Order: sequence, then C-alpha cells, then structure tokens
Amino acid sequence: MAFHSKPVRVVVIGTGFVGSSYAYSMINQNITDELVLIDLNKEKTEGDVMDLNHGIPFGSPTKIWAGTYDDCRDADIVVITAGANQKPGETRLDLISKNAAIFKGIVDEVMAASFDGIFLIATNPVDVLSYAVWKYSGLPAERVIGSGTILDTARFRFMLSDYFQLDVRNVHGYIIGEHGDTELPVWSQARIGSEHIHRFMEKYKPEGTQKDLDDMFINVRDAAYHIIEKKGATHYAIAMGLTRLTKTILRNEHSILTVSTLMQGEYGLDDLYIGIPAIVGKSGIQSVVEIDLNEEEKKQLTHSAQVLKKAMEPVFE
Ligand code: LAC
Repeated sequence: MAFHSKPVRVVVIGTGFVGSSYAYSMINQNITDELVLIDLNKEKTEGDVMDLNHGIPFGSPTKIWAGTYDDCRDADIVVITAGANQKPGETRLDLISKNAAIFKGIVDEVMAASFDGIFLIATNPVDVLSYAVWKYSGLPAERVIGSGTILDTARFRFMLSDYFQLDVRNVHGYIIGEHGDTELPVWSQARIGSEHIHRFMEKYKPEGTQKDLDDMFINVRDAAYHIIEKKGATHYAIAMGLTRLTKTILRNEHSILTVSTLMQGEYGLDDLYIGIPAIVGKSGIQSVVEIDLNEEEKKQLTHSAQVLKKAMEPVFE
C-alpha cells in the first residue's frame, strides 16, 4: 500500500477576517492535511486554532496549529491575507503604502525558511502586492498568484444567474483587470449555456436591457464598498475563492480562473500583475488564456493596467 511521502501543508499568514474564514472554509472542504496559522496577534491565532480544532469532529481530519515562519519550510502553499483592509470609502489602492511596507518583511521571513512552493496573495491592492511578492521572493512568476478578479467574476456570475433565474453553473463570464475600480466586464464573451448573453436575452428575457446589465456590473465593481458599509469587511466569498484556488492547485484541476498573474506581453501588457483568465494547476499558473476582446474592452484593460502601473511607481521606483 503506497503512503504519501509527506503530508500536504498550507500556511496562512494573517488570521484576521479573511485568513480565519479561509481556514474555516479549508477544513469544511477537506482540502489539506496540515493547516498552519501565523499572525502577529498570537492570542487570537491560538484562539482560532482551538476553536477550529474543536470543529474537526464535524469537518475533516486536518492537523491545525499556530505556527512560525519556520513551518513554511515544508509548506506546499503559503497564503498571505495579512495587512490592513479597506475602511468605509477607502479604495484598495489607498492601502498600498501600508501593506507594501509589511510585505517585504513577510516574504523575507518565508524565504528564510527556504520556502519552495506556491504563494497565494489576497491582501489588497492584490495586483500590486502579488507583483511585490514575485519581486521580493525571486520565485518564478507562475508560483506567485494573486486572487485577482476571481471574486469579481464570482459576483458577476452570481448576479447574472439571479437576473436570469438560472443555475450559476450555466453562466459564463469574466471580470478582468485591476481587482478594483478600473476592472471591466467582458460582455463580448459572456455566455448563458452555449449562447451569447445578448442572444439569450433576446430569446428568453426580451424585457431585459443592456442598462440592466450595465447596472449589474456597477454592483459587481462596487460590491465590496457596500458590504464594508454594512458589516465592516468582506471575507466569506474571498475565503471561498482562495479555497477554490488552493484546491485547483493541490488537485491539479487545470481550471481557468481570473487570477492576478504576471503579464509578459499578453494583451499588449508587460511587467505587471493584473486579473486575467489563466489555467491553474499543480505547478501554479500553467498558462495565461488570451481571450478575444473587442476594441472597447481592450481600451478599458489598457487603462486598468496604466492605473496599476502608476500606483506601483512609488513602491518599486
Ligand atoms: C473584496 C475584497 C476581497 O472585493 O477586495 O471583497
């Protein structure tokens, strides 16, 4: 009988709203053998570990502990959720100076443990901070992945499924670009079942209008602001998205997800991380998927990239 050479280990750095929700989601979906939580607030982390361990009998046999950076040595995946999150009215790019400042220290600590796995980054502004982790770690770009617009794409698909009263698994569409105010919907490629969304609307929802769809996109783009106004933070959906991303890697699922990844000429973009469809598997980013964009979408994506590049200047000059 073959035994695993070593248990699968995931390390989470940051056990705030997102990190602790991610840990909870990982246990409930039975994704990993070992889950290590690291945070400056050791009391909180130990409390989370106790609380999560007590749920194991109802979930999956996952070994969880409050660890140190040395636990990254044998980690397959290190997930960074640490840092400040948006306050009401604050944009994600407003967080750049605060969070970029702490990331160098975090990455240096992880790499000091000879980490040789895959980084997943969720802290905002996620595109800029994913680029920072790639630069600071020296790992190949395919092993440094930001959550990008996977959550925006999920919001987009959910709202379309609600609008058409359909199973979300039959709704296909992408939000790409900055995970932020300059993101854009790829309407030219949006499909319901196998039909283009406009054709589907003509046949099955003739009362629907493009304004309905445009208003829906605004709700997708601004969802975090509304949730933060109501409850102070967003964390469940992003945690579930990070869990999906982790599962795709650990199970080598070859899934197409709109993660934040390094552009090296694709879409005419270079030397920045941005949310784009990519195939994700056990080695991280297997390849970027270059979907056809219409002229307006190309213009919006280029604008989004320019906003990110400008925001990055003070961090990497
Ligand atoms: C949001 C955070 C994860 O969009 O940026 O909810």
